[in-house]
Amino acid sequence: MKISKVIIPVAGKGTRFLPVTKSVPKELIPILNRPMISYVVEEAVLSGIEEIIFITSPDKSSVESYFMADDVLDNFLKNNGKGSILEDLNSLINKIKIKTVIQEEALGLGHAIAQASSCIHESENFAVILPDDIVQGKENPCLSQLIKVSKDNDGAPVIGVMKIKPSETHKYGVIDGQNIAAGLTLMKAMVEKPSQEEAPSLLATPGRYILPAEIFKILKTLPKGSGGEYQLTDAINQLCQVQKVFAYEFEGKRYDTGQLPGYLEATIDFALQDPHLKTYMLELMEKKIKNGV
Ligand code: G1P
Repeated sequence: MKISKVIIPVAGKGTRFLPVTKSVPKELIPILNRPMISYVVEEAVLSGIEEIIFITSPDKSSVESYFMADDVLDNFLKNNGKGSILEDLNSLINKIKIKTVIQEEALGLGHAIAQASSCIHESENFAVILPDDIVQGKENPCLSQLIKVSKDNDGAPVIGVMKIKPSETHKYGVIDGQNIAAGLTLMKAMVEKPSQEEAPSLLATPGRYILPAEIFKILKTLPKGSGGEYQLTDAINQLCQVQKVFAYEFEGKRYDTGQLPGYLEATIDFALQDPHLKTYMLELMEKKIKNGV
């Protein structure tokens, strides 16, 4: 079964990035000259996704606007010999269909995903990407690795996981299960933000999921969970009790760009990966380290 849709929740208030998020949605804060959201949208497109469903709050239309062609700007750049600047972005836009669903109240990730139920067919599998987590896949994008695992396992749901430190369990959805092959776990349960003592493993999700449409039925009757919010993790935990759900330790590097340190690391790494900035960046860092600043 082809997975062609991804749900990306972008309704968050971005309080960790205040004061800039007072007027700029967190997702549009740039890493170099591209907004954070474009990195995860690119991951989706490279993984074969054709439709992006943004779950957004009423005041965040600028996220959607970023992915719309701007004829006036295009013409201006063309007429001034700068047409190639927007070529990259437009080539991304031309490959995807964007839908927007409004989440009126911020009641948690489970509640956000539930808003998109009418966009997914009854027997369709879909992906979810959390945009605060940018993942650079090793050879293939993270989402495409999960899609492959799902295909190889009769279209079963797959949760992308990574190893975390014992001290970090309280920040993530953590899985429980039995390792059945390299990087592959058959899940028994999933717990949202457990304490170090309660965590069933050190495998946590940084927000990459392949889910079946059945999850919407579970989300409808889900009680509030951790933090008094409707948690997607709790719905996945229920799903594990009625069908096979796998967790896959994807290959790649994940940046927690929802926090300033992770955002800074991504900015440095992406500059070092840019052929036009690499030498400048290295010289700059060398100079600063030498001068002790
Ligand atoms: C959310 C999810 C959590 C997941 C995390 C990844 O938590 O609820 O299961 O591990 O994203 O970043 P949040 O960070 O939004 O509190």
